[in-house]
Amino acid sequence: MSDIIKQYEKYVMPTYGRQPVVFVRGNGCFLYDEEGEAYLDFVAGLSINNLGHCHPAVVKAAQAQMAELINTCNLYYSKPGGELAELLSNLSLGGKVFFSNSGAEANECAIKLARKYGHDIGGADKHRIITLENGFHGRTMAALSATAQPEKQAPFKPLVPGFMYVPPNDINAMKAVVDSSVCAIILEVIQGEGGVYPLDEDYLVAVRKLADEHHALLIFDEVQTGLGRTGKLFAWQHSGVMPDVMTLAKSLGGALPIGATVATPEYSDVLSPGMHGSTFGGGPVPCAAGIAVINELTAADFLTSVQTKGDYLRSLLEKLKADGLVSEVRGMGLMLAVDLPEPVAAAIVAEALKNRIILNNTSENTIRFLPPLVVEEGMIKAVVEFLQTALSA
Ligand SMILES: Cc1ncc(COP(=O)(O)O)c(C=O)c1O
Repeated sequence: MSDIIKQYEKYVMPTYGRQPVVFVRGNGCFLYDEEGEAYLDFVAGLSINNLGHCHPAVVKAAQAQMAELINTCNLYYSKPGGELAELLSNLSLGGKVFFSNSGAEANECAIKLARKYGHDIGGADKHRIITLENGFHGRTMAALSATAQPEKQAPFKPLVPGFMYVPPNDINAMKAVVDSSVCAIILEVIQGEGGVYPLDEDYLVAVRKLADEHHALLIFDEVQTGLGRTGKLFAWQHSGVMPDVMTLAKSLGGALPIGATVATPEYSDVLSPGMHGSTFGGGPVPCAAGIAVINELTAADFLTSVQTKGDYLRSLLEKLKADGLVSEVRGMGLMLAVDLPEPVAAAIVAEALKNRIILNNTSENTIRFLPPLVVEEGMIKAVVEFLQTALSA
């Protein structure tokens, strides 16, 4: 066993079941281990590397900013923060942005914004938040309270009060719980950690209407679906159902830590000075990287190419389904998953690693594909060929 793995086992808290490999370098769609072996990456750090590893534009922007000014905290202004906020606003909801350091933190801000809005218009009673079963919104206490997965919540009870959960894509279940005491509905347009389950367009339209009727905020967690992953800059743009607040993180900083909570103009000033904060949030280095990321994602034809490559991967996975090797194919763009007829997903992921391919499973039955968006057709073909061989065996 590598000394580094031994060191982790001795000194790092065991919160992750890590794959037995140490990566020392990344370039595009490939990671390299201590021996210099190349691995084709179809996980992209769980979608933090949408532009691939060490994208030159991200490296250049971050290095230049590092040499100028690393961070000052949020008592002062800095150039990259304003510029990235303007870009995000103009490309999405048109209002203001709060910067933090992670997806969970972006959701914490959205939850606090919703609670404050509830207090403003309905007093303390208007505090309930509805989220969807099988959703995932992060590991901090409020984000975990929004994460309706009983096995993740159970060891940490009591949770933050006021959260209620309903099954996804069931508008009657949602109607049964939404009343004037609800300040927000939070959902992922495609449930990522839950196994890549998209919500129906009709459902999104109906939830939007319900939220409006009860003066509840509609919050979309785009931490995994956002930033080009589904073939649009944000997944809600496929349906046109616009949220009041959207949260982002993961690949926003080109794999540097940054989270963003974006609001429409109507809800941009709900939080006032002193109500929320983050010492590091929106620091110049991740924001400079973020500007480079957005410029790449919005370059001509980039998102169309994501859609084309997603369609190609999907078509090959559908062939595995026709051959009976997988039982279902789900997702959008380059956020796809297959269900396996047998609970062997972890074994397939381990076998893939031996074959220098990095895959991820969300359960014993589901393999998820989140390749860098710069993936090439030949790489897609190679991964599906591996799957075909492994699943046939
Ligand atoms: C939809 C969604 N929301 C929130 C999070 C939490 O993000 P972070 O791990 O950066 O706190 C994740 C992480 O996987 C996610 O997929």
